[in-house]
Amino acid sequence: MVEFKNTGVTFKQKRNIIKAVSGASFTIEKGDIFGIVGGSGAGKSTLLRTINLLQPVTTGDVLVKGKSVVNLKGKALRNLRQNIGMIFQHFNLAENKTVSQNIAFVLETAGHKRSEIKSRIKELLEFVNLSDKANAYPSKLSGGQKQRVAIARALANNTEILLCDEPTSALDVETTASVLALLKEINQRLGITVIIITHELEVVKAICNRVAVMSEAEIVEIGNVYEVFTNPQHQFTKQLISHTQRFDVPQEILNKLSGPLVKIIYKGEKAAEAILSDTAEKFGVRYNILHGKIEYIGTNPTGILYVNIIGTQENILLAIKELEEKTQKAEVILSA
Ligand SMILES: Nc1ncnc2c1ncn2[C@@H]1O[C@H](COP(=O)(O)OP(=O)(O)OP(=O)(O)O)[C@@H](O)[C@H]1O
Ligand SMILES: [Mg+2]
Repeated sequence: MVEFKNTGVTFKQKRNIIKAVSGASFTIEKGDIFGIVGGSGAGKSTLLRTINLLQPVTTGDVLVKGKSVVNLKGKALRNLRQNIGMIFQHFNLAENKTVSQNIAFVLETAGHKRSEIKSRIKELLEFVNLSDKANAYPSKLSGGQKQRVAIARALANNTEILLCDEPTSALDVETTASVLALLKEINQRLGITVIIITHELEVVKAICNRVAVMSEAEIVEIGNVYEVFTNPQHQFTKQLISHTQRFDVPQEILNKLSGPLVKIIYKGEKAAEAILSDTAEKFGVRYNILHGKIEYIGTNPTGILYVNIIGTQENILLAIKELEEKTQKAEVILSA
């Protein structure tokens, strides 16, 4: 659906040259909900904007549905943009227009008939569950409602790709969940390819099937979300993910530990219990579980445990070795 081929963007500012995107090469398939994560200033927005040519490229190519877009002009460019909707963190609605008028505007620009426009707006507002707000002005809407209007507007023409630049960053947790559910529905029911930039890894875990990680203008890792989150390869990704898995054991408890503190990451719901009881029996060690949680990536569970291992030094080492082999990851984070 979207193919980046050695795509690069540099900005020239006086004497400075800023490399915003460097040699990006990857494909986003039709039907993906594709996440792009990375640090601030990594080049995520710049990369996203090359897809509808809001941002020209300096090097390489960008293909949409198999055709290069980087040199499009005039009518061809307008056609491309009509099929690609975009939403933003701050919604970007026209404050002096009602909800209906905000949506009508893009349909008028695309040259639709008045009667068509009316019925299309009705349909769109029903889809985003805002039929009762057709004549309201944006200032009277909540953040979540504003983003729903922006989504309706982005879908107004025959949208095939929806670009989302931090769509939930200005929303609270509950509203985020409802906007994400709507994006998922758009993807599944309408078959629209959704590309989401976010700094919230939870967003990616909740709805994306694939993810690309950007750091300092480069794509450093890309893959299936479950794989990337349970088995990150690049140092930057490892760090990004470990932030969300951090658990600070209270100092008083750390002071009392008589064996090492080990962080275990495992796939599946039951796996850990069996491995712990097996190794406890086999090596005569005891486990003291200090913290544990299971989280879901899509519908796949992955678990994290912080355990204190008690036993003779030799047995502890044997147990850790086996944990390393049988879990996704076992890491000694404190060797008391
Ligand atoms: N129009 C521009 N002119 C000059 N430099 C720019 C321009 N747009 C972006 N940049 C620079 O390019 C780099 C990448 O910016 P970009 O906005 O793509 O990052 P980002 O990953 O989206 O960051 P954030 O998470 O903060 O939104 C930054 O160093 C930024 O300052
Ligand atoms: Mg950005």
